[in-house]
Amino acid sequence: MSGLNGARVVVTGGAGFIGSHVVDAALAAGAQSVAVVDTFFLGHEENLAAARARHGDAVKVYREDAGDLGAMTAICREQRPDIAFNLATKALLYSFFNPIGAFEVNVSIAAALSELLRHGALPKLVHLSSSEVYGTAQQVSMGEDHPLLAETSYAAGKAAADLLLMSYVNMYDLDVVTVRPFNNYGPRQNDGAFAAIVPLTIKRLLEGDAPVIEGDGRQTRDFFYVQDTVAAILALATTGAARGRTLNVGSGRETAIREVVETLCDIAGYSGEIVEAPARPADVRRHRADVTQAEALLGTVSRIGLREGLERTYSWHRSDFAA
Ligand SMILES: NC(=O)c1ccc[n+]([C@@H]2O[C@H](COP(=O)([O-])OP(=O)(O)OC[C@H]3O[C@@H](n4cnc5c(N)ncnc54)[C@H](O)[C@@H]3O)[C@@H](O)[C@H]2O)c1
Repeated sequence: MSGLNGARVVVTGGAGFIGSHVVDAALAAGAQSVAVVDTFFLGHEENLAAARARHGDAVKVYREDAGDLGAMTAICREQRPDIAFNLATKALLYSFFNPIGAFEVNVSIAAALSELLRHGALPKLVHLSSSEVYGTAQQVSMGEDHPLLAETSYAAGKAAADLLLMSYVNMYDLDVVTVRPFNNYGPRQNDGAFAAIVPLTIKRLLEGDAPVIEGDGRQTRDFFYVQDTVAAILALATTGAARGRTLNVGSGRETAIREVVETLCDIAGYSGEIVEAPARPADVRRHRADVTQAEALLGTVSRIGLREGLERTYSWHRSDFAA
């Protein structure tokens, strides 16, 4: 397969935040069809509205569990995919509600995909891992060889999924690329249950509530705009040199949570109180990606600066809020 032109694509978690942008980008790159496999745990039909409007029957949605090998086998038989992108997961904060469920969902999906690859039902997989597998930075910046020190059961499930897939690659010489994005933000990120800091803060500002910072706000993340992530994922999917590798994608910059919240307040024209709440348990303290390996293959991966990305994200939520 060269590029995604004419490709038959499966996207697990394709009705979610990053997954729906992968759907759009794959279709824009000329994919012949995109099959979304999503339980709609946090996915939304609206996230696929633009793709459906522009590409009609080329978009097919299966409301199935990507960890159900029977369902996935049937989907692959029907779709005959050239490639799958695995983005299905339950949000990190779900770990605190159902720790074992958060772990198992990641592992069961990786297991089903591993078996599909082994049996040739799926020729290629781009698997989304997460920077969360590293836990708090032992060294900054964090390369792919950073130890796996998962601090939540979500992260433990992501790390276990990565290891399972890698073992299948070693045993059966399969075509798998593992991508570890750092903190994503942008349009369509869930602002309801289990929401992350950017959509949560924007929602509070739009609803006239004071933003909240958990802990001292000095905990850092590497914030990466979703369009940059998706561009990197698609480029890695179509670069033979990424086969069998695990690659970080992020901005390479470290930003404190307080700075993100204050920037959003500034964008919203809010000068009121910022509420301080107790620190979240098992909250990663520092994160900054080392993206040397991805950039050696792709060139610069971070194109949208934080302020610009937050402005775009705020304005998307504002239009969505007004609709
Ligand atoms: N958002 C980030 O900052 C970030 C950072 C690093 C890695 N990632 C990874 O990127 C991927 C996408 O994350 P996101 O932020 O878009 O999350 P999201 O919650 O918006 O999307 C995940 C989607 O998976 C679906 N889903 C859950 N369980 C499923 C199952 N068993 N079968 C099929 N679908 C299922 C959900 O309904 C949802 O639509 C995940 O693998 C996540 O670990 C995200």
